[in-house]
Order: sequence, then structure tokens, then C-alpha cells
Amino acid sequence: MKKIIITIDGYSSCGKSTLAKELAKELNYVFLDSGAMYRAITLYFLRNHIDWNDKDAVVEALQNISMEFMYNRETNACEMFLNDENVEWLIRDMLVAENVSEVAAVREVREFAVAQQRKMGNGKGIVMDGRDIGTTVFPKAELKIFLTADPSVRVERRFKELYERNPNITIDEVKANLEMRDYIDSNREFSPLRQAKDAIVLDNSNLTAKEQLKTALKLAKEKIQDLTTAAAN
Ligand code: DC
Repeated sequence: MKKIIITIDGYSSCGKSTLAKELAKELNYVFLDSGAMYRAITLYFLRNHIDWNDKDAVVEALQNISMEFMYNRETNACEMFLNDENVEWLIRDMLVAENVSEVAAVREVREFAVAQQRKMGNGKGIVMDGRDIGTTVFPKAELKIFLTADPSVRVERRFKELYERNPNITIDEVKANLEMRDYIDSNREFSPLRQAKDAIVLDNSNLTAKEQLKTALKLAKEKIQDLTTAAAN
């Protein structure tokens, strides 16, 4: 069967990573969470007091950053290693969430991350989720999904996720953070969040994780079958 690139883009907390992870598992593909890369860079900048508005400081700092996804058998997922340290949990922290959109809007940061993402997709057989994967990173991807969900559903989902780790968090804080990230991600100058013209929109507001997986898997299998048949003729 032909291997393809599947991109899943959309606003924050639409469930992109959940879908991408499960889809990759079903197809025996590699799952890559591009947001984890922007989060890891943000963590590095925060820890090392790098001013991301200072272009020279950013360029220098990026030279000291190495990022790698490594598979963890226990969680059955790829986890982010920043300079050989597992930061998968740390990058989900609210402090990182509050700053990541600003960092991800910096041109040098995007060029750095996008170059690595493209390299990771070289061999095909990947599912990558993010904001600009179908538009900028892999504009020729064979299957592009644009995931959406009602804003109140997204806030609720994100709140539940964060509350498990931090019971002091309020729903208003989560709502404000999501609104801020959506705004910055959609309005930044370099590769803003956009639906690719050839993307298929999937609204999961009223779908269970199982139902959305079923829909996406059907799309993927059809695409793989069509391309495999075309290649054989
Ligand atoms: O998907 P996420 O919430 O983990 O992403 C964190 C931030 O990274 C998000 O606010 C925007 C940014 N991001 C981006 O600009 N481009 C991507 N391809 C992925 C994420």
C-alpha cells in the first residue's frame, strides 16, 4: 500500500493530537505533534531568559536546542525530548501555554521548526497535527483534515485536562488562554492558522473520539486505496 502524509490542523484544543495519535496507530504510521516543538522551544526560552523579541538572541538560542520525539511504550506515544531531557509533561504547563503563541509567531522560530518537521515527513507514513501543516509544512500532503469544534466544547475539554493536574485552575483562565492563542495563531504574519483550500473539514463538537476516528480512518483508507490503485495502473 502507498504511504501518505496526513495533516490535521485546527484551533487549540480541538482534539487534534488525540485524533492524530489514534489515526497513526490504526494505520501503523508515525504520529508527530508539531505543537510540542513550539512548546519545547518556549520552555527553553523561559528557562534561559531568552527575549523572543530580540532576533539575535533567538538565533543564538536556537543553535543550542535539539528536539527529538521518542516512543514511550508505557504511554504508547511519542514524547518530546529537549536536549535529551523528557519534557513531555513540562511543556503542557500553563506558563508555557501562556507564552507559546507569541514564540511560535517569531519568524526564525518557525523556520527552525518547519525545517525539522519537513525532514521528519521525508519517508511519508506520518500523521502530523498543528496549525500550518497542510498550508505551509506539507502543502502537497495527500490527505488534509481541518478539525473544528464549538468554542465552549473546546474550553470544557481543555479545562478537564488541566484540572486533573492543577485543581486551582479556573474555567475563565482556560477560556482566556484559548481565545488569546486562537487570536495570535490566526493573525500572525508568518504562516498563520488557515484552513487549506483542499482540506476536509471535520467538526467533532458532537462526536465521540471513536466516531471521529472512524470518519478520519475512512477518509485515509479511501485515499490510500485510490493512490495505490492509480500507482499500479
Ligand atoms: O497544538 P498545541 O496547542 O500544542 O500548540 C501550541 C502552540 O504552538 C499553539 O498555540 C500555536 C503553536 N503552533 C503553531 O504555531 N504551529 C503549529 N504547526 C503547531 C503549533
